Amino acid sequence: MSDKTPKLRSQNWFNNPDDPEMTALYLERYLNYGLTREELQSGKPIIGIAQTGSDLSPCNRHHIELTKRVRDGVISAGGTVIEIPVHPIQETGKRPTAMLDRNLAYLSLVETLFGYPIDGVVLNIGCDKTTPALLMAAATVNIPAIALSVGPMLNGWFRGERTGSGTIVWKARELLAAGEIDDDGFLELVSSSATSVGYCNTMGTATTMNSLAEALGMQLPGSAAIPAAYRKRGQMSYATGQRIVQMVHDDLKPTDIMTRQAFENAIVVNSAIGGSTNAPIHLNAIARHLGVKLDNDDWQRLGHKVPLLVNLQPAGAYLGEDYFHAGGVPAVIGELLGAGLLPHPDAVTANGKTMAENCGDKRTETPEVIKPIGEPMTREAGFINLSGNLFDSAIMKTSVISKEFRDRYLSNPDDPEAFEGRAIVFDGPEDFHRRIDDESLGIDEHCILIMRGAGPIGYPGGAEVVNMRPPAYLLKRGIHALPCMGDGRQSGTSGSPSILNASPEAADGGGLALVRTGDRIRIDLRKCTADMLVDQAELDARRAALPDRPFTPQSQSPWQEIFRQKVRPFSEGMVLEGAPDFQDIAHKSVP
Ligand code: FES
Ligand code: MG
Repeated sequence: MSDKTPKLRSQNWFNNPDDPEMTALYLERYLNYGLTREELQSGKPIIGIAQTGSDLSPCNRHHIELTKRVRDGVISAGGTVIEIPVHPIQETGKRPTAMLDRNLAYLSLVETLFGYPIDGVVLNIGCDKTTPALLMAAATVNIPAIALSVGPMLNGWFRGERTGSGTIVWKARELLAAGEIDDDGFLELVSSSATSVGYCNTMGTATTMNSLAEALGMQLPGSAAIPAAYRKRGQMSYATGQRIVQMVHDDLKPTDIMTRQAFENAIVVNSAIGGSTNAPIHLNAIARHLGVKLDNDDWQRLGHKVPLLVNLQPAGAYLGEDYFHAGGVPAVIGELLGAGLLPHPDAVTANGKTMAENCGDKRTETPEVIKPIGEPMTREAGFINLSGNLFDSAIMKTSVISKEFRDRYLSNPDDPEAFEGRAIVFDGPEDFHRRIDDESLGIDEHCILIMRGAGPIGYPGGAEVVNMRPPAYLLKRGIHALPCMGDGRQSGTSGSPSILNASPEAADGGGLALVRTGDRIRIDLRKCTADMLVDQAELDARRAALPDRPFTPQSQSPWQEIFRQKVRPFSEGMVLEGAPDFQDIAHKSVP
């Protein structure tokens, strides 16, 4: 131990000279599986490994294997390991949505890190919500923490073509609807994308959030993109275990790394990778738990002008293994740094070095996959943040809008055209599936599909349902996408032109509660406005007629009800009311 080593908080449990009786009581049970007094009392940092891998969580299950290498790294650096079970969150398995459990896993990990003798923690991240849940917890507790990505699955292949997680589902649905494949063919095609251990191999929410955990500085450089099955993943696990011990000695905490500057860097990186529209929800949440001010205006102001560099599905063609071989996050950051586009090169990262020191000399190694900064996939590829009488804030991912739509409504500065269309309103995904092919709705290319009752309170947790397909009769005419808008979310693996995460949601009194099928909707992407062209007296009358808890079905579990009562809108990160009032708790209180 160096002179600078702070007194370890674990020693309040295991070696407290003021309270030898309690020390004995804490110690005796942790000795019972073979830990020694030397391991617990000689000043070795106790490193928690927040374990998100389990049989319930296939995306993160490989962490069980990787944790062996993390342990080796911790022990080689002079620490002791205590593995921490984390409430499971599997994106594809949890009903009604894994998003509901992000805050539950957060709360539970906060209590664990706060209430047990943990000096530092390795965050086993991967599947969509595991990354924000764990970073949020580390933010609140504020003990030294480092994230370890489980890594993406190997590339999926079907008849010589790459098949990417999630993205292939949208394609398979079209083939099924057109009668080109049957149910077995659907399963065969879709599961061809799931090749190995690891998380989704597209630039969905998982790759996005793992990349952003690195861009925030919370992973070792290069960690995010290594495929789960590669040997380098085990080697990175070992290095991560070694590093967290030193971070405890140096007292390098989440508040030192995840500063406002780090979030600004992450927003820019999100545009360059073509990240998911779930990212603003999660990063705004992590920031709130740190006391860092961050909102959807920041996403537009800092992110919109940034070019898209990463050619991964759904915005592009390639997959996770290709991203890794092209240089991963360090290559993206290196390209941005080279052009002066990373706002804070001096931001400190988990290895104690700055972004510029880690990535300054890195460049793309495969220019088809990570484009050089001078030849991007798309210029101005970040999100825009809309508002109007339909909502206060909603996000649009401009990198997936079709070229015609972009040229007509967004890019041409001389042409003041705004999109105007007729609203077709659906109350939740079941209503959409029931009625979308109903020809009496008269849906044509001048319509906008609206989904409500799909937000944090309405669903609950927010459903990934705002990517609505046109009716079959329009698909047959070659119209593959209509503008969509809603208070729900969209899977990061889909690519439809949608206005998402509308806040406040219909169930929380947002303007979407008032819109009716047939209303005229006006969207001006350059002014960033979205309005229903309905006069105020009529809107007031519609509001007065709303029931008590509009668009809110009965809760099915205690947590759903507590969540509904406490949750804040997507624009505020979907955090729980009151939860951000608790910050830096490991340091304010003596356990
Ligand atoms: Fe787990 Fe995509 S479903 S990462
Ligand atoms: Mg998802």
